[in-house]
Amino acid sequence: MSNRNFSTKLLLGSAIAFLLYSCQPKPATQSTQKGLIAEQAMVVSARKEASDIGIAILQKGGNAFDAMMATEMALAVTYPFAGNLGGGGFAVFRLNDGSLGSIDYREKAPLAADRDMYLDENGDIIPGMSTQGAMASGVPGTIAGIFAAQEKYGKLSPAEVLAPVIELAERGFVVTENQAGRFARLRETFQEVNGPGTYFAQEIKAGQTLTNPALAATLKRIAQHGRDEFYKGETAQIIVDHFEKIGGIISLEDMNSYEAAWREPIVFNYKDLKIISMAPPSSGGITIGQIFEMISPYDLKGYGHHSPEYVQVLVEAERRAYADRNYFLGDPDFVDIPVGELLDEDYLRNRMASFSMEKATKSEEIAEGEIAFAENMETTHYSIVDQEGNAISVTTTLNGAYGSKVYIDELGFFMNNEMDDFSSKAGEPNMFGLIGAEANSIAPGKRMLSSMTPTLVEKEGKLWMVVGTPGGSTIITSVVQTILNVYEFEMSMQEAVEAPRFHHQWLPDLVSFEPNSFDSTLISILKAKGYQILENNNPIIGKVDAILVLPDGKLEGGADPRGDDAASGF
Ligand code: GLY
Repeated sequence: MSNRNFSTKLLLGSAIAFLLYSCQPKPATQSTQKGLIAEQAMVVSARKEASDIGIAILQKGGNAFDAMMATEMALAVTYPFAGNLGGGGFAVFRLNDGSLGSIDYREKAPLAADRDMYLDENGDIIPGMSTQGAMASGVPGTIAGIFAAQEKYGKLSPAEVLAPVIELAERGFVVTENQAGRFARLRETFQEVNGPGTYFAQEIKAGQTLTNPALAATLKRIAQHGRDEFYKGETAQIIVDHFEKIGGIISLEDMNSYEAAWREPIVFNYKDLKIISMAPPSSGGITIGQIFEMISPYDLKGYGHHSPEYVQVLVEAERRAYADRNYFLGDPDFVDIPVGELLDEDYLRNRMASFSMEKATKSEEIAEGEIAFAENMETTHYSIVDQEGNAISVTTTLNGAYGSKVYIDELGFFMNNEMDDFSSKAGEPNMFGLIGAEANSIAPGKRMLSSMTPTLVEKEGKLWMVVGTPGGSTIITSVVQTILNVYEFEMSMQEAVEAPRFHHQWLPDLVSFEPNSFDSTLISILKAKGYQILENNNPIIGKVDAILVLPDGKLEGGADPRGDDAASGF
């Protein structure tokens, strides 16, 4: 070999080596001030295994939609509390060319459902019927949703995407302390609903490796035959047979006819932010849109984070927005929703005209009602940004913890109790204490109103944040506060997620604060102004999983320490 040839090859070799090195995913780094920082891509979810599988799919050449399918199914394996095949959800996405979209895979009322199905002969709600057991489940949408999104925008085959999830279900995952506590608390209920031999009747300890062979087998069939396996194949038949056996009403026709729906997201501005969130049948987008518009004239930053004025402005906007939510919103395929009017600037300014800093508005001045507060923190959220710049914000749920508690042992998953998100009787609260109206009454094939608020935020025309959380009715207020924490109060993503949160939802006329996290002077000032504060039995408010695009283009994860949540990235 000539010298010249040799040096050319050496140079070429070094250049290739350099290129290969610089193209290689760099491991993400963790700093104490901030969450995980990654250069190119990130997944933040309720379980490390699920975030890792999402990232593995991206590294295999998949994009955000492939990672969505993998993460969602990995949550069904490792986080059966809310991760699911037997539930539903919503995803809002922004492609790297700036185009926006969303998919609704919310459950539907079975075709045999009717408006008064949870009422007795006196017209009173039959306790527990919409929350536990055979009659509580809607027709599940998750498999339809993840397949529709992946088929349209993903790059890998479903079999490639599901392979590591199937392996995870076979190999097992390590049960956390949080999980072991929840399994133990509900063990008797699982037995009561499903019989003594049901899988989750076993004693499950923290640190134990839990496999789910039945779920692995279900996922294998779905990987092989596609989404129709779930809705028209053996899996559909097993679901329907199971419901028939336990006295439910989900039929083969319900399963066969289920389709996810593409929806135009709700898009609005807050100062120089463009916020993109979920449209009905989720109330999330419209309600946060109303809250942001109502608070926009106020100097939140000047008041200071968690100052009495800041809390008041937010609470008063929330009061008014939830009153509208509960009255006007429902499934857009069944009811006309005045979206434009509800988000109209003049309308919303006018709504806040009755607010004064001197004293609390009373919710009964806006509408009647007095009810007890229900504590819940189910559902799960994950956020994804891929190496191509596509972003997806996904919230998915069984509704309550482990849904209806109906567990189909043959299939390895729980079924939802989403029917409780309908208003069983106008004026009566559901399990989140939310009072419903006619717009959200039950009808065959109708989708129940949701609070899930998967959200994306743009700043200066570029992706800025991916955010969402579980938490039932508190989802909406947690998403608003997380965005404000970063935008108005300059917190890092991780700080914004960790910051204590408060919540108000019109009725009951209470403001709840995360326990032991707020200044007692703040509470005294608010009480003196007439706010009723929920001091005992406060719920943990949400479990936010978010991603912030930093000014240098890197990604910062915010994984909520209130759970076992974790970010992965490269
Ligand atoms: N099931 C909780 C929600 O959709 O809001």
